[in-house]
Amino acid sequence: MTSAASPLPIVILISGNGSNVQAIIDAIRAGLPVEIRAVISNNPQAYGLNRAREAGIPAEVIDHHDYDSRATFDQALMARIDRYQPKLVVLAGFMRILTDEFVKHYYGRLINIHPSLLPRYQGLNTHQRVLDAGDEIHGVSVHFVSCELDGGPVILQAEIPVYANDDADALIERIHQQEHVIYPQVIRWFAEGRLHLQGKRVLLDKEKSADPL
Ligand code: GAR
Repeated sequence: MTSAASPLPIVILISGNGSNVQAIIDAIRAGLPVEIRAVISNNPQAYGLNRAREAGIPAEVIDHHDYDSRATFDQALMARIDRYQPKLVVLAGFMRILTDEFVKHYYGRLINIHPSLLPRYQGLNTHQRVLDAGDEIHGVSVHFVSCELDGGPVILQAEIPVYANDDADALIERIHQQEHVIYPQVIRWFAEGRLHLQGKRVLLDKEKSADPL
């Protein structure tokens, strides 16, 4: 159990705007028992780096263009993350596919937010695909990361309605509002020691069992 006196150390990985980073920063200011040790981006232009710096959080770039393979990039990223000794690694719009080596290294303490109701619409362009399919409900999922892309065990989802005159931008805005609520919520559960992954099963307020899953 992490108390307010010893906040959960996390590292956040981003590639872009970082509105989810901002939501987590704001939640910490409102009492979320978490310390963001660093925000790391593969994209030097990511606006989320500015948000981190403005909050006094170390903001670092590891540009994937500087590496000749996904494996060497991920190794450099792991080395940098581990310097900060996080207990949780948070993917917040980090638009790189991770190697199995990376995922295994952090398994059970690596979470992602994805703009769809998983297992539906894994991958990119989820909002347009929802519109093209004529869905009436869209949503967002927070999940533990597994070696299957966007396929890890789901922790929490939020739904939004899709209206007849919606375009992708309208959906993005409504999805973001939900993301900024559910991501801090999941991080809070983890920080409070209430959330675990056992095998492929998400445990919230449940004891780990002796069963191998
Ligand atoms: C979020 O909508 C997140 O769900 C999505 O990127 C956006 C980042 O927004 N992630 C993915 O698509 C991952 N496959 P932000 O930079 O404003 O936090």
